[in-house]
Amino acid sequence: MPLRRPLIVIGVGGHGRVLMDIVRVRPDFRLAAVVDDRFTEPELRGGLLYGPISTVPSLLLDEPDAELVIGIGDNRIRRQIAERLGLADEQYAALVHPGAYVSSDAQLGAGAVVMPGAVIGPGAVVGAHAIVNSGAVVEHDAVVGDFAHVSPNATLAGGAVVEEGAHVGSGAVLIPGVRLGRWSVLGAGGTAIRDLPDGITAVGVPAVALAR
Ligand SMILES: CC(C)(COP(=O)(O)OP(=O)(O)OC[C@H]1O[C@@H](n2cnc3c(N)ncnc32)[C@H](O)[C@@H]1OP(=O)(O)O)[C@@H](O)C(=O)NCCC(=O)NCCS
Repeated sequence: MPLRRPLIVIGVGGHGRVLMDIVRVRPDFRLAAVVDDRFTEPELRGGLLYGPISTVPSLLLDEPDAELVIGIGDNRIRRQIAERLGLADEQYAALVHPGAYVSSDAQLGAGAVVMPGAVIGPGAVVGAHAIVNSGAVVEHDAVVGDFAHVSPNATLAGGAVVEEGAHVGSGAVLIPGVRLGRWSVLGAGGTAIRDLPDGITAVGVPAVALAR
C-alpha cells in the first residue's frame, strides 16, 4: 500500500471538523496534527497531536512532507491565516471528498476543498483555499476565486465567476457568465442574473445589492 500523505488541518471549528471527516474517508491521507489557537500548548488527544497554529513550523521540521489545509469557514480569516503562515502553495493539499465529481479538465488550487456531492465541470477553475461545499455545482468553465466559498447546493452556471473572497450563499445561483465581485456576498437562495460589484451583499431573485 502506498504511503499515506500526512496532512495538518488548521481549525477545530465546524469547517475544520468537516475536513477531518474527509481525511478519514481518504485512504491516501493521514491526519498528522490539528492546529488551532484555541490550544495554548501542544497536547496529545487520542494519539493525535493538537496545538496552537504557531507550532506549524516545528511540525514541518519533524515532517517536511506534511501538507496543510485551512479548515476555517470565514473567508477573511482563512486568508489571514494563509498570510500569517507564509508557506509556499505546494505545502497545501487540495482536499476532495471521494463522493464529489471533479472533471479531469478542472483545476483545483492549493488548499482548495470540495465537499461530498459537489460537481466541478470541465474547464472550471477553483482557486487557492476556496471551498466548494456539499452538493454545489461549479459548471464548465466557471471560476471560483482564491478564498471564495460556494455554499451547499449553490450553482455556478457555465462560465460564471466568483471573485476572490466572495461568498455564494446556500442554494444561490449565478446564471451563465455572471460575475460576483471580490469579497461580495450573494445571499442564500438568491439568483444573480447580472454582474454584481465588489464588496456588496446582494439578495433575492433577481439579486439586488442591499443598501448599506
Ligand atoms: C445575505 C446575508 C449574508 C445577509 O446577512 P445580514 O448582513 O446579517 O443581513 P440581515 O439579516 O440584516 O438582512 C438584511 C435584509 O436582507 C434580507 N435578507 C437577508 N438574507 C436574505 C436572503 N438570503 N434572501 C432574501 N432576503 C434576505 C433581510 O430580510 C433583511 O431585509 P429587511 O431589511 O427588509 O428586513 C445572509 O442572510 C445570508 O443569506 N447568508 C448566507 C448564509 C449561507 O448560506 N451560509 C452557508 C454556510 S455553509
